[in-house]
Amino acid sequence: MKFLLVSLFAALVAQEVSAAFISSEVSGMSDVGSGPAVKYDYDMEVPGSATKKCALVNIVMDESGSMTTEQTFLKDTAIPDIVSALYTPTYGYSDVFVCSNGFGGYEDTDVYDYRYVGCTKGNANGSLMDNSITNWNVRGHWEEGYYAMSKSMENLPQVIASVNLNTECSELHKNMILVSDEDRDAESWITTPNMMRQEIIDHGYILNIVVDSTINADHDNVGMQVNSANRNTIFRADGSGGFTSFDKNEPYTTFVAHEDLGVYTLDHYYPLIIGTGGAAWNVNSLREGVANNANLKLSFADAFVKTKVQEIIDNCSGNTCGGGGRSEIGGDPHITTWKNEHYEYHGQCDLVMMKDDEFADGLGLDMHIRTKVVRHWSYIQSVAIRIGNDVIEIEGSADREDQEAHYWYNFEHQGEAEDLAGFKLIFKKQVAYKRQYIVDLSPRYPGKQIVIQLFKEFIRVKFDGSEEAFGNTAGLMGDFKTGKTLARDGVTELNDYTAFGEEWQVLPADGNLFHVATHPQFPEKCLEPEDPRGERRRRLGESKISYEQAEAACFSALSDPLSIKDCVYDILSTQDLDMVGAF
Ligand SMILES: *[C@@H]1O[C@H](CO)[C@@H](O)[C@H](O)[C@H]1NC(C)=O
Ligand SMILES: *[C@@H]1O[C@H](CO)[C@@H](O)[C@H](O)[C@H]1NC(C)=O
Repeated sequence: MKFLLVSLFAALVAQEVSAAFISSEVSGMSDVGSGPAVKYDYDMEVPGSATKKCALVNIVMDESGSMTTEQTFLKDTAIPDIVSALYTPTYGYSDVFVCSNGFGGYEDTDVYDYRYVGCTKGNANGSLMDNSITNWNVRGHWEEGYYAMSKSMENLPQVIASVNLNTECSELHKNMILVSDEDRDAESWITTPNMMRQEIIDHGYILNIVVDSTINADHDNVGMQVNSANRNTIFRADGSGGFTSFDKNEPYTTFVAHEDLGVYTLDHYYPLIIGTGGAAWNVNSLREGVANNANLKLSFADAFVKTKVQEIIDNCSGNTCGGGGRSEIGGDPHITTWKNEHYEYHGQCDLVMMKDDEFADGLGLDMHIRTKVVRHWSYIQSVAIRIGNDVIEIEGSADREDQEAHYWYNFEHQGEAEDLAGFKLIFKKQVAYKRQYIVDLSPRYPGKQIVIQLFKEFIRVKFDGSEEAFGNTAGLMGDFKTGKTLARDGVTELNDYTAFGEEWQVLPADGNLFHVATHPQFPEKCLEPEDPRGERRRRLGESKISYEQAEAACFSALSDPLSIKDCVYDILSTQDLDMVGAF
């Protein structure tokens, strides 16, 4: 953190300007940071006609003073090598795009000194169709890497070099590289590391950071992957221009340290890559290599390029890279499949959200939801989770003042609930009507969890998990690897969501996880709301809360486009602006 005075001043200015910025977005006017006119739509479904296999490297470059070495490395070595590798038959990408963004270089471009530089396509020989996008600056001002990353994802154009990424790429594998020798100047920007990490995952990117972080006090350790808080793979220069790797299984905070201006690098940037498949690289290794150790520079480049290319191959599928494995099912059951596709099912019954008999070496996992129809829509009224022989059932409460926690542990109301077959249960209460129940899947699945979020009577379930934890599950969230909405036979794809919902109605063989049976139970069919689509449309027309009001409320509280969409939807269907608090 430098320029405290400047930062404080900028913070004051920023608040005013950012309010204007938000409202201008809502009303559809162009924003102050001059991004592309037509942006990539992260929510859009890929049309069947798309054929290109695309990769994107989105660079977020610190343009402050002293960044020359890193900028030159990216421009002359890393980008050409990554681009040309991805085009080789081994990897087989048909189109490789490179985007460029700067931060901390110009005072007047944007409230946080961010600027969108441009995007272009790479050539097979590694050169760029438009070289000007790597003409970064070295000036030095307000360095807010989080804001810059958010904007860089938002500012991905829909069309680059005449290719429409939304309609022509059957897959778009997205990679972001943040380069900075300092920590973030964050006084007035409230995003936390967890929020930022989630935003990156939600947008389907893998992040690599090139930052001031020396690993084990040795510049030969050029970079590392942080698989979980205490499981790391370190890439080490081998003395002759190549590299080897080894594991170090202790918390990275004990052996990674800043050397120069990146005082809070470990707090700000490292948490963003934990468990994502992304990696951290040490700017000090690169600087020593460039200044006086040619082999070290070669090793850095070799490790960086190979690791990055490998990540893209290993950890991307469809339009999603890295984290993947995040899915949720919300208050109003608009369900997000494992591949981030949304659908709605509005029947009332008990449904199998997920099941996996092999979970945790055969302990098994079942998760059922009970939905309730209210007029033309439905919401999740309760959820029950079984692991091994333990079951927890959770319910919300429509009464804002209700101080009680409504749960059943092994069918006993408010039973002593410490764990599910050894997986710790964590209860959190923000206010009476806003609670969280977390099933911590560590240590079997380090850092992974299932989060049940209660807001009044509405329940939202989120999974922060990997293929290791959820790869084998079946149910309403679809197939983990493909996102396909598969029937119980594991083969038939059901694209009619009513049929798909009915397919996953709880059957006697799925077991009884709720403490009481409610109507309907199999063989009675799920109750369907009357013509949900027609009614909904009509009802939206009569709504007191307008789409614009809902969007403004959600936009000011949330940054992730998918959550904003869900939030708007929940507000409109409940006619309750407070629903913004459920996210
Ligand atoms: C790389 O390929 C591009 C496009 O085919 C071409 O214009 C450029 O001259 C090539 N550069 C080199 C160094 O061969
Ligand atoms: C990335 O791919 C590697 C190799 O296949 C795998 O071990 C790792 O779990 C993956 N990470 C994520 C977050 O998908």
